[in-house]
Amino acid sequence: MIQQVDLLLTNIGQLLPMTSTGPRAGKAMQELTIIEDGAVGIKDGTVVFVGTSDAVTDIRADKVIDCEGKLVTPGLVDPHTHVVFGGSREHEMALKQQGVPYLEILKQGGGILSTVEATRKATEEELYKKASFYLDRMMTFGTTTVEVKSGYGLDAKTEMKQLKVAKQLQQHHKMDLVSTFLGAHAIPTSHKENPEQFLDEMLAMLDDIKEEELAEFVDIFTETGVFTVEQSRAYLQKAKEKGFQLKIHADEIDPLGGTEMAASLGATSADHLVGASDEGIKKLAESGTIAVLLPGTTFYLGKHTFARAREMIEQGVTVSLATDFNPGSSPTENLQLIMTIAALQLKMSPEEIWNAVTVNAAHAIGRGDEAGQLAVGRKADVVIWDAPNYLYIPYHYGVNHVNTVIKNGKIVAERMRIID
Ligand code: NIG
Ligand code: FE
Repeated sequence: MIQQVDLLLTNIGQLLPMTSTGPRAGKAMQELTIIEDGAVGIKDGTVVFVGTSDAVTDIRADKVIDCEGKLVTPGLVDPHTHVVFGGSREHEMALKQQGVPYLEILKQGGGILSTVEATRKATEEELYKKASFYLDRMMTFGTTTVEVKSGYGLDAKTEMKQLKVAKQLQQHHKMDLVSTFLGAHAIPTSHKENPEQFLDEMLAMLDDIKEEELAEFVDIFTETGVFTVEQSRAYLQKAKEKGFQLKIHADEIDPLGGTEMAASLGATSADHLVGASDEGIKKLAESGTIAVLLPGTTFYLGKHTFARAREMIEQGVTVSLATDFNPGSSPTENLQLIMTIAALQLKMSPEEIWNAVTVNAAHAIGRGDEAGQLAVGRKADVVIWDAPNYLYIPYHYGVNHVNTVIKNGKIVAERMRIID
């Protein structure tokens, strides 16, 4: 029987469907199915065929793209970003060069707190326009699903403003967005002496956030000079009781033990984990809490010790990767660059890296059933890469390898072109 489709991709050199029944943990991260001479059929925004080119004789298409032997994968998933913020922090580069530590800049009222000032001043329209630009850029780099956090308000009014902008972006931007409430991102200057009162104020927002469907996840920055493990546990526990899924910025700079705490609370993910202890890694493996590693941040903070991805994978942890796009510790929209840093500094294999930025990343934000895989019946988020094979993307670094990005079956980005 002849099948009619809207769009047919043929002559794919390597097609990575990334299909998996659940997140890929530990050694299973090495698994990668490669379909050579592949084809993908798309109809009404949905994948209707995944297979080899010789099986498409029965398919008629309105439009055919000859992929000329290129690599084709699902759209990338970026499971940890801070896209909605005011201002920028290029002036901190000189401080970094002088060796002023990240937490010291924060202590002096800079860092996150300077972005808070700029975000409080910005209108919803300004924040929307700015975030929309960054999301467009992410899309041109092959990302089709993104998690986005609040956390540059640190007061109810501005946190709500950020969350509302995220919701508008969810409704109007082509990118798929998953929203996280990170009100507990830093202690605002006004509450320096009473962080617990500040956390209570943030908790008091949860009913409204739930009611208005402004976030699915609650996150907290557990770090020296920010929130302690005990404060974070109590905070996340209350968020869980209100029906939120949990995330945490844990053991990013100092090894405080946030990793163990997140695992014991059944957090969906624990992120950063540069200083995670042996016990923390074991607990992640046991609990299934996904490790979202952010090696771009370690690189950008000029550190030489990276998260222990190899130990995590050997112990059976599910590892994912993200940009951590934010104005301070990781100003990049480019998940391909993170794939390179993961290869060089985390010593992850190319197969592990591809699982980390697709199937595992989708599970880290509760979208395992929707994003990160190319399978019949799923939405057609597809990237055609200017690359002959999957090894090539982490290898040739710092540039954009995207040829074409397809979102919900529609072409939304194409590679840069020189205009004569
Ligand atoms: O994930 N660590 C805390 N939050 C962000 C940085 C935010 C900022 O510096 O503006 C992070 O690295
Ligand atoms: Fe972050």
